[in-house]
Amino acid sequence: MTDQLGRTIDYLRLSVTTACNLRCPYCRPTPLGDAPPALSDDDLVRVVRAAATLGVRHLRLTGGEPLTRPHFLSLVQTLRAIPGLETLSVTTNGTLLAGQAAKLAHAGISRINISLDAADEAACDALTGVPGSFRQTLAGIRAAKEAGLLVKLNAVLLPSTDVLALLSLASREQVLLRFIEWMPIGGIPQKAPHTADLMKLLTDANLDPKPVKASLGNGPARYFVTNTGQMFGVIDALSHRFCAGCNRVRVTASGILKPCLCYGNGADLRPYLQDEAMLTNVMRNAIFQKPAQHCFDTPGGITEHHSMREIGG
Ligand code: 5AD
Ligand code: SF4
Repeated sequence: MTDQLGRTIDYLRLSVTTACNLRCPYCRPTPLGDAPPALSDDDLVRVVRAAATLGVRHLRLTGGEPLTRPHFLSLVQTLRAIPGLETLSVTTNGTLLAGQAAKLAHAGISRINISLDAADEAACDALTGVPGSFRQTLAGIRAAKEAGLLVKLNAVLLPSTDVLALLSLASREQVLLRFIEWMPIGGIPQKAPHTADLMKLLTDANLDPKPVKASLGNGPARYFVTNTGQMFGVIDALSHRFCAGCNRVRVTASGILKPCLCYGNGADLRPYLQDEAMLTNVMRNAIFQKPAQHCFDTPGGITEHHSMREIGG
């Protein structure tokens, strides 16, 4: 469907859990987290069916860490069969992926984005707060590739990010890496590098990054290639506002439809889950009213105080 500004909304990011086995520094749960319980499988399916009726063609399952959800595979299988959906993908921290990648591919997942913020074991484990997480994620990346999934790596740009080491890892593992600007949600004060800092670093390292025209997936990433032939992406909501072309909405694990990451308000779908027509209507209205843009550059305007794990990444 199109929203009030004529943007085509065909992409839903559905969080299936607020639980996560890692503790990334930019994603701390809100103290006294007040999220109601996650929707049941049946209710998630109802929401996706209504979304597909409204023109959603691409579904990405997120969290929290989606692979921690009980019976995740059978949920994937059920969602895959919903008419209208063209692609089904997952965003994961990869730690639980090694044992599940082949099954996920078989169940109908085609693309997987894996979050990895550091290229060596000590740095990564220190960031996630969980010893062993780096090795698990690396095993997950390899298993996903082996299973024929389309793998992308996502790294949030932090003051400590070793950009060159992450690029080497991506090149070694033959996966596409994207750098994400740290968005000021979740109420954690931060000062982190932007795309311009990244580009300067790469230029100083004589890698001479040049933009390339590439549309790889349904997101706002822009792609570049270094003079060694390595492609990488940037997702820079702060320094390169892409709201005018935004194609997505989110539904939190507890059934709140969020039209924009920046704002705390959303449509609570729970009262309408038993009535398909009502549910579709409520979702249509909420999507139609999607705000024009985020206001990450005016901190007082940001009304989303929950972290990504609570909202759905
Ligand atoms: N800013 C940018 N990216 C974030 N993520 C989580 N919180 C933030 C934030 N505040 C990323 C995770 C993961 C994806 C779901 O979102 O690292 O790659
Ligand atoms: Fe977990 Fe993702 Fe949050 Fe990291 S960013 S703590 S992997 S939900």
